[in-house]
Amino acid sequence: MKIGFLGFGKMAKAIAYGLLQSNSSYQLYCYDIHPNTFSDFEQKNLIKIIPNLQAIEEECDILIFSVKPKDLKDVVTSCKGYDTKHYISIAAGISTKKIHEWNSHIKNLSRVMPNLGAFAKHSVSAIFSSNQETLNLTKSIFDNLGITILIDNEELMHAITGLSGSGPAYVFLFLQAMIEAGIREGLSYELSYQASLHTILGSVKALWENNQKNQTLTHPADWIKNVTSPGGTTIEGLVELEKNHFKYAIYNAIHQATNKSKELGK
Ligand SMILES: NC(=O)c1ccc[n+]([C@@H]2O[C@H](COP(=O)([O-])OP(=O)(O)OC[C@H]3O[C@@H](n4cnc5c(N)ncnc54)[C@H](OP(=O)(O)O)[C@@H]3O)[C@@H](O)[C@H]2O)c1
Repeated sequence: MKIGFLGFGKMAKAIAYGLLQSNSSYQLYCYDIHPNTFSDFEQKNLIKIIPNLQAIEEECDILIFSVKPKDLKDVVTSCKGYDTKHYISIAAGISTKKIHEWNSHIKNLSRVMPNLGAFAKHSVSAIFSSNQETLNLTKSIFDNLGITILIDNEELMHAITGLSGSGPAYVFLFLQAMIEAGIREGLSYELSYQASLHTILGSVKALWENNQKNQTLTHPADWIKNVTSPGGTTIEGLVELEKNHFKYAIYNAIHQATNKSKELGK
């Protein structure tokens, strides 16, 4: 099957890269208003570049709308909308209803909120579609990139956008803060970087592997308890995080990102 990206920026590249790393046999095509955006993919002949929107829509079986939300209307209204093709939007905030309003010829439509984890085949991809065939097809594509979550109430796509769509940025910020804290305590950048990165990686991996083994979703609080000895160092760190409303800051970050997604959809 031929997949065409309409807009080939950061997220489209992450999806393309993930698909190329998987065992899937999709042929990839892309179209972007900036020809210099193809770089590596073009040089290595990994993806076919199509010079205009009409040609890529004609060529491909599945079209992925991967432009910014503000550019989506332009792209959607420029499409012909074939009954035989499937269309996937990864744009934050914009509902499938709105896309159908912009172009009533687009019938087979799904909405996906992936994340940057696609680069490492660890994307969280939430999928909504009221069309069963498109839903199945979309799931089969995104299954190659990590976990897929089927959403039956489209309104919840805003929450997923605030949580896992934007989530990588919060994790990177946490990593940055840990690295800088290590430097503050006298560690070199390299040492602090390695220690911080592998602390995050190791903690999450240990929890995940335990969950896989026992088929559970262990509460993180149970793991915090395991690493917090009475009167020890960790509880001192935890008290400080609590004093500075660490959890509250995260709740609010995700709340505001969710609200922004709702706003984009208006
Ligand atoms: N980045 C993420 O982590 C993430 C996660 C989940 C979902 N998303 C969603 O994915 C979509 C793309 O995000 P992104 O971060 O990949 O954006 P991006 O890096 O800006 O990529 C979009 C690309 O499309 C181009 N473009 C703009 N208008 C176009 C048009 N009419 N026809 C063809 N190409 C056009 C852009 O050019 P210009 O630079 O000139 O505009 C840019 O090269 C967004 O809707 C976003 O909500 C992103």
